[in-house]
Amino acid sequence: KILFVGEAPGVEEDLSGEPFAGPAGELLTKILTAMGLGRESVFITNLLKCRPDTPGNSEGNRKPKSDEVSTCIPWLERQIDLVQPRVVVALGASAVEGLLGKGTAGISQLRGSWQNYRGLPLMPTYHPAYLLRNLALSEKRKVWEDMLQVMERAGYPVSTKQRGFFLTKD
Ligand code: URA
Repeated sequence: KILFVGEAPGVEEDLSGEPFAGPAGELLTKILTAMGLGRESVFITNLLKCRPDTPGNSEGNRKPKSDEVSTCIPWLERQIDLVQPRVVVALGASAVEGLLGKGTAGISQLRGSWQNYRGLPLMPTYHPAYLLRNLALSEKRKVWEDMLQVMERAGYPVSTKQRGFFLTKD
């Protein structure tokens, strides 16, 4: 029912052959657990189907270039057509830009509001790697509010306890 789109495979994904296999993936798994879902009950993929080359070493990751995105996008479109999700979640600016086009507003403006991706509801949200860099509870809450909307749209139940996750404690 829910299809998540990230940016591109990195070194861990290259080694394991799985999307979101490193630290950002562990956080994505935690987010899914908080939603009451496991990785096996959603579809997780990336904008790019191979790792952007990082010349001379195997460390680090870089943003996909536009020709790489345009080369890979037909595969992603085919995946989405085959999976027929109820909801698409775009994780981070690259996924949002890749799916919605370059002219769109930035991720901080777009996140939290439904967009239309080829007739499917698409929720832009921050990439889990951003949450690993910015540990503020307020940022976790923003992503969580986006996920609450996604759960509702996909037809999953939301408990009162879940609604309260990551709220500031006063
Ligand atoms: N970040 C992404 O965007 N995708 C992955 O698969 C891993 C990290």
